[in-house]
Amino acid sequence: MPTPFLAGNWKMNKTIDEALAFVEAVKGPLEAIDAVDYGICAPFTALAPLHDAVAGTRIKLGAQNMYWEESGAFTGEISPLMLKGLCENVVIGHSERRQYFGETDETVNRKIKAALEHGLQPIVCVGENLEQNEAEQTEEVVSTQVRGAFADLREDQVRDIVIAYEPIWAIGTGKAATPKQANDVIGNVGRATVADMFGTDVAEQMVIQYGGSIKPANVEELMSQPEINGGLVGGASLDPESFVTLV
Ligand code: PGA
Repeated sequence: MPTPFLAGNWKMNKTIDEALAFVEAVKGPLEAIDAVDYGICAPFTALAPLHDAVAGTRIKLGAQNMYWEESGAFTGEISPLMLKGLCENVVIGHSERRQYFGETDETVNRKIKAALEHGLQPIVCVGENLEQNEAEQTEEVVSTQVRGAFADLREDQVRDIVIAYEPIWAIGTGKAATPKQANDVIGNVGRATVADMFGTDVAEQMVIQYGGSIKPANVEELMSQPEINGGLVGGASLDPESFVTLV
């Protein structure tokens, strides 16, 4: 079984000072924990100062998005070369980016390839919305997203990727998927699709997180499911005490 990975997704929250204060607060309490991997995906502006602040700790640092070109006339974008050396992970295809910023399976695929090329580990988000869930299209939606994201990748590249299954109806709503629901989609759809594309060995080794209203009160039950290898946490990752409890 892969080592579980709990990542905080701060979204558009925390100034540099707030980000540094967070790390200062969690550093000590997290020191004793070595059974799981953990990290934070911070706003671009906080990455450089955080890079120095997490040195010597096991806190992994991640970005929340990235463009696929290395440089050029792409006003407002951040390239893999700019992230390389600053952070280890990059969230790609978060549902908020798909919903508000026109991210598609094709752009997700390009970004994953660029991230891997530059040694950044992608955390690739997939998940169905409420309407699709109610119409029982979850399997089709999630497997299509995984196939689109991983199109033309080689087996050795896919080994380095983390998937986050995040049902959109559970994000920021306080209404998490039940542990069984999350486990079933991750195992029977996410992992099964990876197995079909790249073999069971790759699928079994892959870290597949659950995301959507994870809180200290439900984390244990969710993480006790055999197919769930950690979580991507938004709201509950912003408070140091809550983050330490989740880890
Ligand atoms: P949430 O967000 O934990 O606030 O529901 C999860 C996410 O969007 O990654």
